[in-house]
Amino acid sequence: MSKKTGNGIFIAFEGIEGCGKSTQAHLLNTTLNKNGIKSIISFEPGGTEIGKKLREVLINPEFKGKLHPVTETLLYQADRNQHLKEKIIPHLEKGYVVICDRYQFSSLAYQGYGRGVNTNIINWIFKNAVQGLMPDITFLIDIDVETSLERVKKRANAQNVELSRFEIEEYEFHQRVREGFLNLAKENNFVIIDGRSTIKEVHQMVLKEFKKRFRIV
Ligand code: TYD
Repeated sequence: MSKKTGNGIFIAFEGIEGCGKSTQAHLLNTTLNKNGIKSIISFEPGGTEIGKKLREVLINPEFKGKLHPVTETLLYQADRNQHLKEKIIPHLEKGYVVICDRYQFSSLAYQGYGRGVNTNIINWIFKNAVQGLMPDITFLIDIDVETSLERVKKRANAQNVELSRFEIEEYEFHQRVREGFLNLAKENNFVIIDGRSTIKEVHQMVLKEFKKRFRIV
């Protein structure tokens, strides 16, 4: 499962809506590139051409209450399979640092803890069908649900976009997902960072941990 692919390093950022993980994934990518390190940033769902189509279904608020949790689980794994084979593995083989905005732990937190799909089944599909790789390091940017929902609404207003199928879920759903991530973090040795710190502070914490583990910046 955690076998190495080439000389690349595989990094995942996880967290609930509005935690700032995408900003941090981009900042890390920029800093690595500035230091002459080959890195790419990608995301799930939607990091490939086919994945973009799956994403349209997955986040469409029209399907709230219609997409069965197991269908949802399978679509995320389909997106992940395509993403791994088409983008993540080839870049790791070429020695890139691959930074992924969400990965398998999002499925365990959202579909497992959030929707109640058996996490053993989610892991089984990931291991046996997708033959998924585990990241070398996972950063969990943790915020409370109140902050999350506030940020998400502000962002949607500012950008004049509608809320996604997950963003319109009730408070309790987000609470289960957050607790899920915190449990997974303990079981899987994530680096947990308080997402209420400033963008700069979080970036410094990410970099410090990255340097400690990989000694290349
Ligand atoms: P994302 O684009 O990361 O949204 P945001 O930047 O607003 O957090 O992900 C879209 C949604 O997909 C997000 O609400 C979380 C959900 N998701 C899952 O439920 N399971 C998964 O395996 C993944 C990768 C994402």
